[in-house]
Parts: sequence; structure tokens; C-alpha cells
Amino acid sequence: MSKKFYITTPIYYPSDNLHIGHTYCTVAVDAVKRFKKMQGYDVFMTTGTDEHGQKIEEKAKEMGMEPKEYVDGIVENIKKLWKMLDIDYDYFIRSTDKDHEKNVQNIFQKLYDKGDIYKDEYEGYYCTPCESFWTESQLGEGHTCPDCGRPTELTHEESYFFRLSKYKDKLLKLYEDHPEFIEPAFRKNEMVKNFFEGEEGLEDLSVSRSSFDWGVKVPFDEKHVVYVWIDALSCYLTAIGFGKDEKQFNDFWPANVHFVGKEIIRFHVIIWPAILMALDLPLPEKVFGHGWILFDNDKMSKSKGNVIYPEPIIKLYGIDALKYFLLREFSFGSDGSFNIEKFMQRLNSDLANDLGNLLSRTVSMISKYNDGVIEDKNVCEDFDEDLKDISVSVIDEVEKAMEHYQFSNALEAIWKLIRRSNKYVDESEPWVLAKDDDKKDRLNTVLYNLAESLRIVSVLIYPFIKETSLKLREQLGLSGEINWEDARTFGLIEDGTKVKKGEVIFPRLDIEKEIERFNEENEALLKSRLGNKEEKDDLKEEITIDDFEKLDIRVAEVLDVDNHPKADKLFILKIKVGDIERQIVSGIKDYYSKEDLVGKKVLVLMNLKPIKLRGVESNGMILAASDDEGKLTITSTLEDIKSGSKIS
Ligand code: ME8
Ligand code: MG
Repeated sequence: MSKKFYITTPIYYPSDNLHIGHTYCTVAVDAVKRFKKMQGYDVFMTTGTDEHGQKIEEKAKEMGMEPKEYVDGIVENIKKLWKMLDIDYDYFIRSTDKDHEKNVQNIFQKLYDKGDIYKDEYEGYYCTPCESFWTESQLGEGHTCPDCGRPTELTHEESYFFRLSKYKDKLLKLYEDHPEFIEPAFRKNEMVKNFFEGEEGLEDLSVSRSSFDWGVKVPFDEKHVVYVWIDALSCYLTAIGFGKDEKQFNDFWPANVHFVGKEIIRFHVIIWPAILMALDLPLPEKVFGHGWILFDNDKMSKSKGNVIYPEPIIKLYGIDALKYFLLREFSFGSDGSFNIEKFMQRLNSDLANDLGNLLSRTVSMISKYNDGVIEDKNVCEDFDEDLKDISVSVIDEVEKAMEHYQFSNALEAIWKLIRRSNKYVDESEPWVLAKDDDKKDRLNTVLYNLAESLRIVSVLIYPFIKETSLKLREQLGLSGEINWEDARTFGLIEDGTKVKKGEVIFPRLDIEKEIERFNEENEALLKSRLGNKEEKDDLKEEITIDDFEKLDIRVAEVLDVDNHPKADKLFILKIKVGDIERQIVSGIKDYYSKEDLVGKKVLVLMNLKPIKLRGVESNGMILAASDDEGKLTITSTLEDIKSGSKIS
């Protein structure tokens, strides 16, 4: 029986805006799957969509659709994208699948029966876009989400809690005993520092919500739905048959590795193992947190207009250009910046010049000098040995790099062989040998060696860029199955094999022209996606005049402005509203100086519940307008009017 290997991508939020950053993880997981399969493992790969939660419920409502109807269309498109990228997943789990919802309920019930879930009152800050709760001390300035920087909402509600605190020591011991559990290792210290050592330490986790409906119902309390992260993480279990196919489940669980982006490592290394411990299930062997792909060092976002989509890259340059670049350019654990020029340069240097050129000159010479027939005549020179040594040793380097999912190092090792082979052409000068009939056998030996090194390359690149591997093999006239171990031996091509000269596999690009062409395609797609929904998305739900009446907005005069003692971006303003004096903390320091503000009339929301911002009381809110390019301006009235006047 072959060894089992279970690997997962994250369970993606349904979005019609998946960019190259999203494809990164899936492409990497797919490469690992092919690599492990070639090494003889029986591999199971899961991906899927995380479809419940308030954000989806709100979006669907804005579109006038049922949540399920809304996600169905998006999920179809995500599947199409994975198909376009030739992603070889074994199971696509949707968190709305019935068998999964049943599992989530059983899991929740089990934890409750065990006493690991209890009911209490929740007070905390919720970031709807990220679907995460935060305690006050974790928040960013102005009560913003520490992950995405958007405003959070203070929520008060009855909630079920998971006794996460109970697992604190066990989790720390897990990290201690299994340093390989979190990779890259530096992420572990981040986790421990941020979540175990803070003021509050590791707190129990709110695991149900009652303020919206779109989720899996708590089995014994229908008012509540299960927290989306419990729901989403459990997808990893359902996908391999938890609660349904016990044999398959036992064969593949625990997962060998969960690949996730760095911002969701904490869910995977804290909440997930704690839940599994509570369920008495074995823990995954590893959580690998990869970095983000930025665009020119900035976070990609549709509204900033700096998103790079996979579709135009695939259309213009093929899937292997995208896969190769993602896996080769960036170090998997760290952030990397995408830049279209860098992309084109790599295509030209690595794929067109190094690999493409080696293939086309090898096949051309075999066609021209020996009627397309590969023949080993064993007439060797000293430098042949160097080529042979490198050829058969690359496989060890690739395996070593892949033990730690260092895709970039693995590919670099293969390219060392490709570059060595090109150098071998220059050293052996086949075109000179071809002029001399006495050198015919030496010529054929050289051509054989080149074909051999390309054969080995075709095996080694298969997990990463399969299409290209197959093109190589077709042009070399190789048929039959690809075996990983065949990259360990030099001299496997049979004499008499006939090459098939084909088209250039990676044409050289005129970079300036291509950047223009690419930008046009990418921008057209961005425009169509913005046009689709963005304007509508931004509009909030309708309210009545009664709702508006609840807001007490007044004209106020700014009396004085002070710096906040603890926060760089905050001012403390003294304002006067008629006879009332107030103190308001506001995040406008980047935009105004004290002199700009004192004596000015501004608009203030008076009846906002007072809160403390970084320790200073704020009583009301200054109204300001901001756009998505980072501009902010305080609002006022067109004509001067006395302070205290009401806005209606
Ligand atoms: O977080 N570069 O889903 P998601 C690299 N539903 N990776 C990126 C990226 C970028 N620019 N942008 C996004 C969720 N990603 C949850 C997961 S798992 C039980 C639940 C990655 O759709 C991101 O880091 O927001 C994450 O790993 C994946 O895309 C899906 O993100
Ligand atoms: Mg996310």
C-alpha cells in the first residue's frame, strides 16, 4: 500500500475578484501534489469555498438575491479558474454542502457535550470583511481591524464560547515539541507574542453569532449560527470523508500540510489544533504560512486599481509562464512584489533564452545533422562528465528544497542544469563537428547528451510546469510514462529515438510592447469587474427618515487641538456646540495641523456612544469625507452659521 499524503489550500471566500495572489497558494499546493505523486505517494488535495457569514449575507441582500443563489455563480467561476490553471484537486468542498453542515453541527454538539463550549455574553469588536473578532487591546488606531485596517464594530450579544484558554499549555507544548508544526519558523514567535503573551493572554473564543442568519445553525439553539472559522476549518475534515467515509478519513487524516496565507496562520495554528484536541483527533503535521504577493510593494486592491489578474497572463503567455513566475520569483514564506516588467524579463531569460533555446537548438541540430535520430556513440570528452554529474545530481537538490517547500530553490537547481547544458553546446561546438565526417560519432554523442539532459529536465519540471514538460518530451520523441526516478540516471533515451521538431515553446517578448498589451487586457478586465458591482457594493442599505432622525448632527466650533499622547495619527479636539463643550478624538492628524483647525466650524455627530481611543475619552465624531485615493477633508456648511445649529 502506498503512503498517503493529504494537502489543502485555504477554503476561499467566494469572490469574483480572484487575483494572482489568490492563485499563488493553489498553484503551489498543486505543484506539491504532483511532486508527491511522482514520488509514489497517494495524494489527496482539497480546495473549496467558505460561503457562510455576515459579509456574504449582506452582499447577497444588496444584489437582491438569496445567499446560496449569490454564491453559486461565483463558485462556478472559481472552479473555472482552477480548471483554466489545470489544478488537479481531488475534492472541491463548499461549506454549504449538506454533509458538511451536518458535520459542523455534530462537531459543535460534541464540544458542547464535553463542556468545551458554554454560553455567555460577548462584547468585542468585529471586523465583518475579515470575519474576525478582536479584543480592544488588539485593535489598531481608531478601533480599526489590525489585519485590514477597516473600522470594526463593537458588538454585544449572547454567544457560545469555546474554551480556548483551556488549551493554552497544550498548544505551547505542541509548538515546543514540534518545531516543524509552524513553518516558516519565525511565524511561531509572532503567534506566541501576539496571542499568548498579550494583556489578556489566550482568551476563550466566541464561536456563535445571533445577529445574522447565514450560517450553520447551532443544533441545540437555532437562534445562533456557528462562527465561520469553525465552519471553514472543519471543511478540511469533511473533504476527506469525515462522518461519511471512515476508511478514507482514517487513511488521510491527519493532514500532512495546510498551506495558508500569513494573515490566517493564527486560525490554523491556534484555533484549529485546539478544536482537534477537543475532538480527540490527531493534529495536522504542518501549517505552512506563505507571504503575500504585493503589487509594486502595495497591497493589491480593486479600488486602488492595482490588481493583476491571472486570466490575461494565461491568455497572453500561457499557464506555465504564470506558474513558473509565481514559484520561481518569490521565496514562498516571504512577501514578494509583482512587477510586470520583472515578469517579462524572467520569461525572456529563463523560459525563452535558457530553456526554450536549449530545446530548439538541440532538436534543430539533431534534425539537421542526423535526420532527427538520437544516437549515442559514446565518444566522450572530459567536459561531458561535468554535464552528466550535474544532470543526475539535480534531483537530490530538488528533493531537498521541496522538503521545506522551497519552490524557488528547486527551480533554480533545475535551471542550473539548463544553463550548464547551454554552456555544453558552446564547449562542444556541434556546428564545427558537423563539418568533419570523421567527427560524426562525436557529434552524435554530443547531441545525445543534450537530449538526455533535456529529458532529465522534463522529468524534474513536471510537478511545476507540466505543460512545458510534455512539450519537451513530445519534441524529444519520448513516449510513455514519466517517472521521477528516471531523473537519477543518465543515458535512458534509446538509440534510434526520433525527435519531432515543434514550435518555439516560449517566444522572446518585446518587453515594452508586451507591457502595453498586457496592461490593456488587465485593465479591461478590471474595468468590467469594477463596472459589475463596485458602485452598488459601496452603497449601504436603505434607511427611513426615522432612522436618520436618530442622528444628532450639529455645527461645532473647534476651540483647541492637542496631540494624543499615545497615538501618532490622532488629535484630541475641544469643541463648542452652542453652550456645550466636548472632547473628541479624531484620526485627522495626517491631514490637518492645529492652526488649520482652531476657530473653524465643523460638523459633529453628537449622540455617538462615547468610547476611549487609546486611553482617551472621545465624545462624538467629526464628520469628514474621504476617497479611495487617501484624500480626506473635513465637512462644514456652505455659509457660516452659529455653532449648535442642527443638521436635518
Ligand atoms: O481567508 N498574496 O479566504 P480568502 C498571496 N476563507 N496570497 C493571498 C493574497 C495575496 N495578495 N491575497 C489573498 C480566507 N491571498 C478564509 C480561509 S481556511 C479554513 C479559510 C490568500 O479568500 C490568503 O492569504 O480571504 C488566503 O490564504 C487565501 O488567499 C484565501 O483567502
Ligand atoms: Mg482574506
